[in-house]
Amino acid sequence: FGTGSPDASVMFIGEAPGTEEDKQGVPFVGAAGKKLDQIIEAMGFRRADVYIANTLKSRPPDNRTPTPEEVARCGPYLKSQIDIIAPSVIVTLGSPASKYILGTTTGITRLRGAWGTYEGIPVMPTYHPAYLLRNYTTETRTQVWSDMKQVIEKLSL
Ligand code: URA
Repeated sequence: FGTGSPDASVMFIGEAPGTEEDKQGVPFVGAAGKKLDQIIEAMGFRRADVYIANTLKSRPPDNRTPTPEEVARCGPYLKSQIDIIAPSVIVTLGSPASKYILGTTTGITRLRGAWGTYEGIPVMPTYHPAYLLRNYTTETRTQVWSDMKQVIEKLSL
């Protein structure tokens, strides 16, 4: 459902649980989760300091991309989580989370790196860590780190 600190200043939102997450009932504990942990630590946080949730609360068959109907059905739970945690900054990881939270059909390649807002909360869309692992280039790594630097800067304001 979600994991982390109820007092988190940063909330990371992914897509949906994968096989490992489904087994353990905890978001981002598989390979993409290890990458996300590294990103969180590079930002100067521990995993327990932030809050991590997914857009979908259960795993789509064969790990396929969630349908808009699935996102619409699970989305209200995510929005309640945001209300409860009330983070200072939201980081959306990948297209489904970014599109849903920002209420747009624009893809992540065009969205990433630019601030949006959700209910007055600054939202930084960035690439999903699984995408980063599949496309592990200097360019994609630099882009994600540049997005996270903007988040650190926003939090220190
Ligand atoms: N990918 C996601 O979007 N969320 C997870 O929890 C794991 C992989």
